[in-house]
Amino acid sequence: MSLEDGWWRGPGLDALLAGTAALERGLLSGLHALGLAPLVHGQPAWPFDVRVSQAMLTLDASHARQLGLVLALLVAGLLAGLLAALLRWPLHAHRASASCLGLAAASLAGAAWSWPASTLLWAPAVPTSFHSLPAQAQALGALQGRRLYEQHCAGCHGANGDGDGPLAAQGPRWPPTFNRSLLWRRSDGELFWHVRHGMRDGEGRPTMPALPGSLPDDAAWALIAWLQLHTAGQQLARAGEWQLPLAAPALDVDCDGAAPRRLRELRGQRLRIVALAPGQPALREDPRFQTVTLSAAPRVQSEGCRAVSEAGWQAYALAAGVASEALAGTEFLVDRGGWLRARRRPDDAPWSDAMLVCRGSGSAPMPAPGADGLDRLLARMDAEPVRPVRGGRLH
Ligand code: HEC
Repeated sequence: MSLEDGWWRGPGLDALLAGTAALERGLLSGLHALGLAPLVHGQPAWPFDVRVSQAMLTLDASHARQLGLVLALLVAGLLAGLLAALLRWPLHAHRASASCLGLAAASLAGAAWSWPASTLLWAPAVPTSFHSLPAQAQALGALQGRRLYEQHCAGCHGANGDGDGPLAAQGPRWPPTFNRSLLWRRSDGELFWHVRHGMRDGEGRPTMPALPGSLPDDAAWALIAWLQLHTAGQQLARAGEWQLPLAAPALDVDCDGAAPRRLRELRGQRLRIVALAPGQPALREDPRFQTVTLSAAPRVQSEGCRAVSEAGWQAYALAAGVASEALAGTEFLVDRGGWLRARRRPDDAPWSDAMLVCRGSGSAPMPAPGADGLDRLLARMDAEPVRPVRGGRLH
């Protein structure tokens, strides 16, 4: 594995994405604490009209390397500057201080010289760019999203989000399809802003109406949560895979009678989520993952982890692209990063790596001798991790 496509596509890029996201979030919290980023729609407003384009960093390795270099030079410059001050004042080492100052100046000049092109570095931002989808919105979306969508959006965007509703041709711009990468290129907060406030074209003509003001912000968040799950389900139904990664929908999980925990808290383990109808017998435990049974109504089960939630059931049915009655018996595998990676329908053959419906980056490992289909699938899931970016934002 060369440095070119190994380190920079793997840990280096992950660190850069996490680093830039942390810098932006840190800046926003700092500005909020100073009173320079007041609350908008319940969370601190991003005061700039651009943000770092994380999508571009994942797409363009040489741009990512360049930004990595710039950040490293900036850090080196700051450290050398600090050292110079330390050497000069408390220590009176004037000559060493001057060399450090030179080094600081050279690093900062290098950073300025290598500064990436702004068309690559920045993406347009709105005040809610860094807002996160409130936790309760997913549950609300799974239960009410379809009704809200049919009432307010389907006329233009079409019953399945293909942009082919009866009113689609009436406006100055054709509504986009949701069934390509659009929803994944925007942050949750950016989608929220557009749904809540509507959109305009370059000449200021309205292209999309705002969600009626009589509906609360929660309705806009619920619509976004529903759209994301619904589009993922459409992809799986149409193309046979989730072409864009999808985080396992939130659930409250109750393990062996302990206090309920969020599914997120089980991250780091591999999970199997099994949707079971009330009378259906539980599956046998398997040491290769933690099993979570999901049901819409309480069921008899004495041990293991379970999630009883009608909204959860609907969310997984949406992600699988099936009607909620057809979900019973479906199994999902969630990788250690919390991404949905594989699905097995009730009538499918035993698990095999053909059921990996969300591929990651990396190359498939050589199968170990004696490995069964599930071993091969799990080995691929671990060896081909999913890049942690959704809508240009870490999930
Ligand atoms: C009158 C037709 C119409 C209605 C009703 C409508 N939209 Fe749109 N929508 C559009 C058009 C046209 C665009 C493209 C606008 C543009 O790019 O300027 C769009 C764009 C979008 C986008 C993409 C935003 C982005 O970041 O690029 C989303 C998401 C969206 N609509 C969601 C919704 C939701 C949710 C509803 C219902 C609450 C809705 N739309 C109602 C016409 C409509």
